[in-house]
Amino acid sequence: MRKRTWWIWGILLLAAAGMWVWAVGSRDKGQDEEKDSIRLGILLYRGDDTFISNVRQALEEQAKLYEQENQIKVVLNIEDAKESQNTQNNQVERMLSLGYDALCVNIVDRSTASTMIDDAIRADVPIVFFNREPVEEDLCRWEKLYYVGADAKESAVLQGQIVVDCYKEDPSSIDLNGDGKVDYVLLEGETSHQDSLIRTEWSIQTLKDGGVPLEKLTGGIANWERSQASALMEQWLEQFPGQIELVISNNDDMALGAIDAIERLQVKEKINVVGIDGTPQGVQALERGMLLGTVQSDRTKYAHGIFTIAAALALDEDPASKILLEDGRYYWTDQEALVK
Ligand code: GAL
Repeated sequence: MRKRTWWIWGILLLAAAGMWVWAVGSRDKGQDEEKDSIRLGILLYRGDDTFISNVRQALEEQAKLYEQENQIKVVLNIEDAKESQNTQNNQVERMLSLGYDALCVNIVDRSTASTMIDDAIRADVPIVFFNREPVEEDLCRWEKLYYVGADAKESAVLQGQIVVDCYKEDPSSIDLNGDGKVDYVLLEGETSHQDSLIRTEWSIQTLKDGGVPLEKLTGGIANWERSQASALMEQWLEQFPGQIELVISNNDDMALGAIDAIERLQVKEKINVVGIDGTPQGVQALERGMLLGTVQSDRTKYAHGIFTIAAALALDEDPASKILLEDGRYYWTDQEALVK
């Protein structure tokens, strides 16, 4: 008899526990459905990088637009890692501990993403990486990891094609001294950045495939930076006086650095310079006739991609129902060649 009473009490207790779990679960669900604000962390590898600061601005615009269209308050916390992965890891940890709904990470060192991915998985906070692409094995470790960027091969092919088109229309516009070869110098971004390697390879390949007779004079790494590129270009102009006909740059800022050196040294001969990014500064140089061409990535679409995915994740919605993704986790922004 005593034994039977214990059984009954046990079953009652189990039922009560079950109901409690169900009640808490549905209360949390209810809260998510009613969410009227989201908190997103934006982590930048270097805040004073021209292209990145343009994307940042566009992200702020997206947040405002989203608030107006959805009546959902958006809190954006933007942090600058100033090129330190350690600093960025600490920023990530802090945001995770503060319960941010999603993080958008422009990672400093793309080969070390696994540390922050571990932290994010533990805290169950999704990450949208952008511009600096983690390796595929890292990105595939969790279904709440995404990547937004501009396809590096596409940028390079478009850049190369600008020169090919000019050459085909009038070879002397590219082979400036008419000696049957185009002497060029190459300005490259960070060695560890996927965009540098792919852009260099495909830009040169496109020029070769397009029949431009290339001859490399020299090249160097200027880490996307205008001042570093300017210093290199000054050196090359002194080393190869009157010889450089074309500057191929992995981005606009370095192209602008090369132009700074050309202007500083008051070089009389024409030199063609091509960049990538289509930053406002790059477009200005294009309009001044100093830049032959650039490849603009649509920064509104870029920021829209990052923001849409992050906001959906923050609201527990499926990003794929909001925006077209490749392989379920990649969003590539549109690009176009700009020439004067
Ligand atoms: C590249 C861009 C560069 C620089 C770099 C930073 O895609 O073209 O200008 O911003 O990203 O990661």
